[in-house]
Amino acid sequence: MHFLSILITASLASSAIAHPGPHRKATRAEIARRGELSARCSEHVGQYNDRRRKRSLSKRQNTTTVEITTESPYYHTIQNETCVLTPEVTAGPYWWRNSQTLRQDMTEGQPGVPLLLDVGVLDMATCEPLEGVLVDFWHCNATGKYSSFSGLPADEPIDTILAELNVTDFEIGKSDIHTDEVTFLRGMWPTDRNGMVEMKSIFPGFYYGRAIHIHIQVHTDWVLRENGTLASGKTVSTGQVFFDEALEQEIMALQPYASVTEFDRLTNDLDNTYNNENTGAYNALVSVVPMDGKDVTNGMIGYVTIGVDTEAVESFPV
Ligand SMILES: *[C@@H]1O[C@H](CO)[C@@H](O)[C@H](O)[C@H]1NC(C)=O
Ligand SMILES: *[C@@H]1O[C@H](CO)[C@@H](O)[C@H](O)[C@H]1NC(C)=O
Ligand SMILES: *[C@@H]1O[C@H](CO)[C@@H](O)[C@H](O)[C@H]1NC(C)=O
Ligand SMILES: *[C@@H]1O[C@H](CO)[C@@H](O)[C@H](O)[C@H]1NC(C)=O
Ligand SMILES: *[C@@H]1O[C@H](CO)[C@@H](O)[C@H](O)[C@H]1NC(C)=O
Repeated sequence: MHFLSILITASLASSAIAHPGPHRKATRAEIARRGELSARCSEHVGQYNDRRRKRSLSKRQNTTTVEITTESPYYHTIQNETCVLTPEVTAGPYWWRNSQTLRQDMTEGQPGVPLLLDVGVLDMATCEPLEGVLVDFWHCNATGKYSSFSGLPADEPIDTILAELNVTDFEIGKSDIHTDEVTFLRGMWPTDRNGMVEMKSIFPGFYYGRAIHIHIQVHTDWVLRENGTLASGKTVSTGQVFFDEALEQEIMALQPYASVTEFDRLTNDLDNTYNNENTGAYNALVSVVPMDGKDVTNGMIGYVTIGVDTEAVESFPV
């Protein structure tokens, strides 16, 4: 198959201190550590984002429009803060490794505003880009459903769903609540020599009790199965990235997003995961520019830098 030529990327030197077992919430000490790492790399990150932004824009449009584009209302000043994510930030109940497939377009025909998500991965120990790490994405569709879990309701709290399923002691990656083998809006791709990866998708919708978010994991020492899913690897980062409230209001006013009316969208400021990730000097907000240089509702390019702490490693399968 087409995949086989890039099947195996291995042995990214990292001092593996395993944290097996279930994911737990980041402690104050961990948050402080990430904040310190982020602050230490902030100048590198600023320069890196600047280079990336220029590259990503010049690739797609004539250079004369670049300055205009960067001054559009959705573009925030270059962010030196990095989203430093470690395995401790929760993967959430909709992680399903068997459906995460090697590809750069995970849309599968799902309707919504096109999103090209550029992720840069930095090693926070050196502030340098990490090449050859596998970046793993998953998010819900425009009406709040996750593939592989589309049998579960999007309009109920997860605790209620688990209670209805008679699931006690839910453990991410161990408890199996998947309902189907559908794979939309799930994909993975390795970083290039600039630590960059681009994934094509749509702007996510939302489900009950959570702010709009995209799940991202970063794996090292990864080995794929023949069908492009992960056989084994080490997870050095698990996190969620978010979007600006004003942008969300604009996108959620459009169909099919606007068809979800049975419950309210949770805003970032009320979302525990958002608040947990954004404590201190780092930043889990995706910066966006309109793809056509004009209107973000026609599609957007988003970017976010993920700082990886290669000393915090979780191996799988466990
Ligand atoms: C952010 O990065 C830019 C570019 O490297 C640098 O000029 C600026 O001083 C940095 N700002 C902070 C607050 O570190
Ligand atoms: C850039 O501008 C040139 C000259 O106007 C035009 O031929 C070309 O198609 C443009 N490229 C893009 C990507 O818009
Ligand atoms: C890939 O293969 C694994 C193992 O056979 C299977 O469990 C999984 O469902 C397959 N995934 C896809 C997307 O084909
Ligand atoms: C989202 O996925 C669910 C489950 O597959 C599907 O019923 C629904 O139509 C999808 N939403 C949109 C907007 O297509
Ligand atoms: C959960 O348990 C109740 C009571 O034993 C039972 O009626 C119900 O069918 C169970 N639900 C599922 C999804 O197994």
